[in-house]
Amino acid sequence: MKQITVHAPATVANIVCGFDVLGLALNNPYDKLVMRLLPEKTIRIINKDNFMLPVEPEKNVFGGALLAMMRELDDNIGFEIESTKNIMPGSGIGSSAASAAGVVVGANHLLNNRFSKTDLVRFATYGEQVASGARHADNIAPCIYGGVTLIRSNDPLDIIPLNFPPLFVTVIHPQLEVKTSDARQILKKQILLKDAITQWGNVAGLVAGFMKEDYELIGRSLHDVLIEPVRSMLIPGFDELKKRSIEAGALGGGISGSGPSVFMLSKDEATAKKVEQAMRSVYEKIGVDFHIHLTTVNKSGVDVINAGQK
Ligand code: HSE
Repeated sequence: MKQITVHAPATVANIVCGFDVLGLALNNPYDKLVMRLLPEKTIRIINKDNFMLPVEPEKNVFGGALLAMMRELDDNIGFEIESTKNIMPGSGIGSSAASAAGVVVGANHLLNNRFSKTDLVRFATYGEQVASGARHADNIAPCIYGGVTLIRSNDPLDIIPLNFPPLFVTVIHPQLEVKTSDARQILKKQILLKDAITQWGNVAGLVAGFMKEDYELIGRSLHDVLIEPVRSMLIPGFDELKKRSIEAGALGGGISGSGPSVFMLSKDEATAKKVEQAMRSVYEKIGVDFHIHLTTVNKSGVDVINAGQK
């Protein structure tokens, strides 16, 4: 039986000002899936970690994404998935997206690459919907494409991979869970025109900064006047984390996805290490348990790392 191993990277959605439209992939952490094709229309999920996620396909992110793909297949086939998640659910670094993106890229590989990348993003958004109640693609697109991506439109999907300069990413994850569905619920439904103008100035500036590899412009554009003021209340020590990171030399940063993780971008590794130290000392002082990752932007997206026979 053909068996493959898939690595699906963590991602940072929004990149501060680009709510639901910008995202980037990380080299660490990543989830691991082992997948096999089955000779009947079924989805078998085996969890190899301690997260106790549901195994019924319709309640599970893998199932949501695969069922969307299988609706477009006539074949009498199914999939077995052995999942080892290293990206903690509810951490804000794209745990559900890694499951959804990983499983559709793996399934497509087992099907000899029948579907395009845009199709795969579309299928994976159904998995994201199981977890967060919304079909946003700003974690899924960078997870599948790698690098930094812009979702110009969700329906129809229009995904633009962006050029970007070398970037180091420091991510701190306070050990508490924020459900994306809750973090979306608390957002304002209407915004002021003056705030919208500030926000789209920053989004355009950030995209231009990535494309031109202009670190100063990236730093100037990493501001969010719409979402951060509401969601930052859910994150202990948020203002202090941000202030100390900028003082340590970070270009800027903010809430990763819907939180509670907070990320900072730096130009070089030495600065990213200083930022890591600054973030650690904030949480050590206020007594919050945390995990911290110092990593870089992943350029390849979901990887099928071996394709052997069982
Ligand atoms: N754009 C989404 C949100 C990402 O901020 O709700 C969730 O990871």
